[in-house]
Amino acid sequence: MSTKTPILIAAMNRKGGIGKTTLVRALTSAIVHAGKSVLLIDTDPNRALISWQLRAQEAGFGSPLMSCKETLDMDVLNTMLDEAFDAGAVDFIIIDTQGGGGVWADTIAAQVHIIVAPVILARTDVEDSLKSFAWYQRLADRVDQPELLPKYCSVITKFDSKTRSGESKLRQTEQQHLLTVAQKLKPLSYALRLRPAYQDMDETGLLGEIARRMREEANVLKRGQAVRFEEALQEATYVLNELLAEGSGVSFDPEAAHA
Ligand SMILES: Nc1ncnc2c1ncn2[C@@H]1O[C@H](COP(=O)(O)OP(=O)(O)O)[C@@H](O)[C@H]1O
Ligand SMILES: [Mg+2]
Repeated sequence: MSTKTPILIAAMNRKGGIGKTTLVRALTSAIVHAGKSVLLIDTDPNRALISWQLRAQEAGFGSPLMSCKETLDMDVLNTMLDEAFDAGAVDFIIIDTQGGGGVWADTIAAQVHIIVAPVILARTDVEDSLKSFAWYQRLADRVDQPELLPKYCSVITKFDSKTRSGESKLRQTEQQHLLTVAQKLKPLSYALRLRPAYQDMDETGLLGEIARRMREEANVLKRGQAVRFEEALQEATYVLNELLAEGSGVSFDPEAAHA
């Protein structure tokens, strides 16, 4: 019997509406498409993630590789994580969180391997993202073994450069935000673009399942629509791979913390 040691990821950012749940759905799509299994844990009282998972499974746009639980109670969360580790049945566990901050945020951070924090290139989103990152850096003062803290990976989302290659079409304010984010948050090099495909994913289910269904359509125009979802899935896969790569994101650095 093969026993798996899951990789734990938490989507965090004190800002609501910044794309946490969308990023979780996109990463889940990439994980399932790669044939790996994932347990989702929704800790947001708005239940957006678990509702999506149920919706997707019921409509046939889910997968046996994905399951979802929910809790607002951190003791229950710890029990869920212990059970998942003991069972050794999933490759990934992704925790979705609410905006805001609190003791719960510290508890989650102490459990996971990777914090993934979406950031949008707009003023309040960048400001709140910097505050979230400052919270992460301060965590080191409150835990016994700071070297065990997860790495912190910012991912630019709703990125709308309009060109395939780069930043040339960003408005001037967005370029300034991009500079700030690049300097202070050291985001992943892959971003999630602003894509209707992610909104359709939110409505329907896994990107790979939507694409597969469209490929099976008799109508050639509908079949052509599959590309939109395949591109989004490819993008989500790049983000997932970079997230997992050694050296990506910001790791806790004791020297820097006491400088
Ligand atoms: N990359 C993206 N492209 C298009 N729409 C997006 C993208 N990221 C997020 N959205 C949309 O933005 C809204 C807020 O995103 P959501 O993931 O629910 O944020 P949060 O979980 O942080 O509150 C949703 O309507 C979602 O569909
Ligand atoms: Mg959410």
